[in-house]
Amino acid sequence: MAFNLRGRSLLTLLDLSPAELRYLLDLAHNLKQERLGFQTYQRFQGKTLAMLFEKRSTRTRCAFETAFGEEGGHPVFLSSADIQLGVKESVEDTARVLGRMFDCIMFRGFKQEMVEALHQYSGVPVFNGLTDEFHPTQILADLMTIEENIGELKGVNFVYTGDGRNNMANSLMIGMAMMGVNCTILAPESLQPEQDLVDTVMGLAEESGSEIRITDNVKEAVEGADVIYTDVWTSMGEEDKAAERIAMLKPYQVNQEMMDATGNPECLFMHCLPAVKGKEVTFDVIEGPSSVVWDEAENRKHTIKAMMIASIC
Ligand code: CP
Ligand code: NVA
Repeated sequence: MAFNLRGRSLLTLLDLSPAELRYLLDLAHNLKQERLGFQTYQRFQGKTLAMLFEKRSTRTRCAFETAFGEEGGHPVFLSSADIQLGVKESVEDTARVLGRMFDCIMFRGFKQEMVEALHQYSGVPVFNGLTDEFHPTQILADLMTIEENIGELKGVNFVYTGDGRNNMANSLMIGMAMMGVNCTILAPESLQPEQDLVDTVMGLAEESGSEIRITDNVKEAVEGADVIYTDVWTSMGEEDKAAERIAMLKPYQVNQEMMDATGNPECLFMHCLPAVKGKEVTFDVIEGPSSVVWDEAENRKHTIKAMMIASIC
């Protein structure tokens, strides 16, 4: 079934219905096949994308820029060192100007309120390329990667271990619950997700039939896992917390012992990257046969392209 997502923004995954999310994943799988078959199209010809960055990026920037450019579009990279945003001009005024010149905007930065204001004032679709709170486009790639490697989403046992209240944990919970994936957040009590978000996710899980579990018990959490996922222990902007996090999160490191404790020799290892090898994941696991992190990185491009095609073409 085709969905009309024209003109739509993606500020969090909650902006999509489960059926719309399903549609974007199907489109992304098709786009990957096209690319592998050397089929080329010009779907963004004559269109422009403003890419606003307050934080660093490799995958997200390259995924947006190459996906848009290779289909004839013109992406414009604007770091906070280059434009007036937040320095000499308010986000509302910047949004109104960009909306007059661009077909769509992507934003990576600190506050979720920034993407909300860009959406409210620009009048064009806005895509969240990561804020302190959410990283929705990453989860599109994560779901696609699980599906490619396991063959389905519904009923898959997914475990996220580490900082359970960061942008990745928040967005993964929403995405997994929407698609019927059983989702465990494994984190010490002080780093577990906000109750408001857990309540929202529980509602989604009830509709999809998935199970959501928040726990600090490593053994119970990982037993029977199909996927173990982790992220950096200190996210961009909270580097001063590094020592405290290392002490707190050491028991939640993904190592071979944790992979073995799943009891599932086929269990996948995933990470949004960039990774700090030796901290949240050992070198042998991320470089080992269970790791699908490079597929996951590649799929950022196909899923982001799918989202932009659905929204602006
Ligand atoms: N996963 C991800 O968002 O990577 P970048 O920070 O390199 O964009
Ligand atoms: N939680 C990480 C994700 C990086 C893609 C961060 O915000 O730095």
